[in-house]
Amino acid sequence: MLHMPKYEKIWLAVGTGALIVFLLVTGIMAVSMGLHPPNGMKMKMEPENVETTAPFNSPGLKKIGPNEYRATIISYTFGYNPNTITVPKGATVHFQITSKDVVHGFMIPGTTTNLMLIPGHVAEYTQTFNEPGEFLFVCHEYCGIGHQAMYGRVIVKDTV
Ligand code: CUA
Repeated sequence: MLHMPKYEKIWLAVGTGALIVFLLVTGIMAVSMGLHPPNGMKMKMEPENVETTAPFNSPGLKKIGPNEYRATIISYTFGYNPNTITVPKGATVHFQITSKDVVHGFMIPGTTTNLMLIPGHVAEYTQTFNEPGEFLFVCHEYCGIGHQAMYGRVIVKDTV
């Protein structure tokens, strides 16, 4: 038996115990509580089928109500399809976005839109644009050499 001071054995036991507790908590949560990626993701498809699976077989902006839109966007290395959407001031936009290759991000600085795009998963978020102007959306998950150049924009027109 390795000879070590008593306090060292105690701390070793505490550390080991804490590790076991953490693993148990994570394991139990994953199994019993259905731990899954954030952002209310749902609907899984194979990433290579993204472009042939509805609604991503026809990405773009669709009007679904009075000043209410659905924006269906595919992310890829290194861009978004479409990379520009134009809406009137006050528009509510329901984003539904996926990735067809690797993990990307979708963040609109200055708003609460902040999504992680996991290949084949659909990330959804609703954002209302009350101020006219141009809002950049950017990829904020490192995805490779072109990551810095991966962005698009929401143009909010000052028209009624
Ligand atoms: Cu896509 Cu970073």
